[in-house]
Amino acid sequence: MSESLATIAYVGATILFILSLGGLSNPETSRRGNLYGMVGMTIAVLATVFGPRVTMAGIPWIIGAMVVGGAIGVFAARTVKMTQMPELVALMHSLVGLAACLVGFASYIDTSIVFSGAEKAIHEVEIYVGILIGAVTFSGSLIAFGKLSGRIGGKPLLLPARHWLNLAALVVVIAFGWQFLQAETMQAGLLPLFVMTAIALLFGIHMVMAIGGADMPVVVSMLNSYSGWAAAATGFMLSNDLLIVTGALVGSSGAILSYIMCRAMNRNFISVIAGGFGSGGGTPAKKAEGEPAGEVVPVSAAETAELLKDAKSVVIVPGYGMAVAQAQHTVFEITKTLRERGVNVRFGIHPVAGRMPGHMNVLLAEAKVPYDIVMEMDEINDDFPDTDVTMVIGANDIVNPSAAEDPTSPIAGMPVLEVWKAKTSIVMKRSMASGYAGVDNPLFYKENNRMLFGDAKKMLDEVLTALKA
Ligand code: TAP
Repeated sequence: MSESLATIAYVGATILFILSLGGLSNPETSRRGNLYGMVGMTIAVLATVFGPRVTMAGIPWIIGAMVVGGAIGVFAARTVKMTQMPELVALMHSLVGLAACLVGFASYIDTSIVFSGAEKAIHEVEIYVGILIGAVTFSGSLIAFGKLSGRIGGKPLLLPARHWLNLAALVVVIAFGWQFLQAETMQAGLLPLFVMTAIALLFGIHMVMAIGGADMPVVVSMLNSYSGWAAAATGFMLSNDLLIVTGALVGSSGAILSYIMCRAMNRNFISVIAGGFGSGGGTPAKKAEGEPAGEVVPVSAAETAELLKDAKSVVIVPGYGMAVAQAQHTVFEITKTLRERGVNVRFGIHPVAGRMPGHMNVLLAEAKVPYDIVMEMDEINDDFPDTDVTMVIGANDIVNPSAAEDPTSPIAGMPVLEVWKAKTSIVMKRSMASGYAGVDNPLFYKENNRMLFGDAKKMLDEVLTALKA
């Protein structure tokens, strides 16, 4: 394939990626968005493999790598459960970071292309910055994977003087960067490069370890953004325009998503970028101590069905537990039955419900819940006082009143769905266990709250049967 044909293919792929992002911003157009992305990526891969920069001798290697990578991808896509998606995404981000590091080292030790003067300096800056971003993304994403999959505890690790440690690391990285640029020989440049990589790896670990459970959504989207910048850096090192553009698209859309997440969690964007945030000014997130206030009132599925039947307006608040139980289809059946009886049923979606952005929207769309009754938190929060019944399905942190009422709570300041303002709230979960943030929930002890204990799918099936009886 000639150079100009490859360029045209790259421009086409870039346009498709932009259309894909546009499509993904709305549930109704998201399928089309995905399709654009898939076609764009196919064109990009074909134009690169058969492009002017790959020799015939390289093709078998590339095909071999694609077969291995593709097989792992197909296996992962088939076996990973929907609830494990966030950890899989974190793991994939780490691979982008690792690739940036490896490409950086490879382009540095590659002696087939000789740069000189300003070109040499620019190439070396690209390598240094590329490996730096790649290493932070790699180790940070691995820790995020550990935290999301529960292999590493959710408590933030707050080292003394951690901000000074980070600052010192930054100074050392800059100093070694200078030394790297001054190095006369490739061998002399390798030492500063290795030292910087080690520091960047430690920084990535430190940054994500310092983040408390409830703030993980911001970290996930932030690492998403970092992985984009790591890909863009790889594009610079390989002089591949499409990779630069694609990386920048991922990097900037990830940054916008992080900003939206920050606003949703009422966190400061700058402190997120700097890392070590989300711990309420230095105190580690802790479980509420002492005895819970008051008693909980359990209800049965039949009583829940009665309450729902008698209601004029119902708001359903789904959370991570609905995803675990895969209860979305039964939720839809209940919604349909209630709507047929003239009950006004709507859904209240918290921006960080579940374990990934848009988690609940995806599940509800899969179950064919109409989009027009699925409301964002801001759209529905004022309606709770006029609501008869709120049904909380496997959600916990996102309906925790202590976020609004207790300034010492680790989740203080995070906007939540104020379900307790309805006439009756029903919380459906298996036990009194806390949610992802590890904080006790005073909602369970409120006078107008009822607890329906059990697996969400099983309990909802019972509620549906009782509703239909
Ligand atoms: P959580 O606060 O984690 O609460 C989920 C609740 O579901 C748990 O308390 C659990 O209680 C219950 N549950 C689990 N399996 C169940 C089942 N089979 N049937 C019924 N209930 C079940 O979830 P949330 O309210 O959706 O809040 C999300 C949390 O995750 C926030 O802290 C958020 O910051 C964090 N987070 C979000 C994201 C994104 S991007 N959305 C990413 C990372 C972290 P039992 O064990 O008693 O059943």
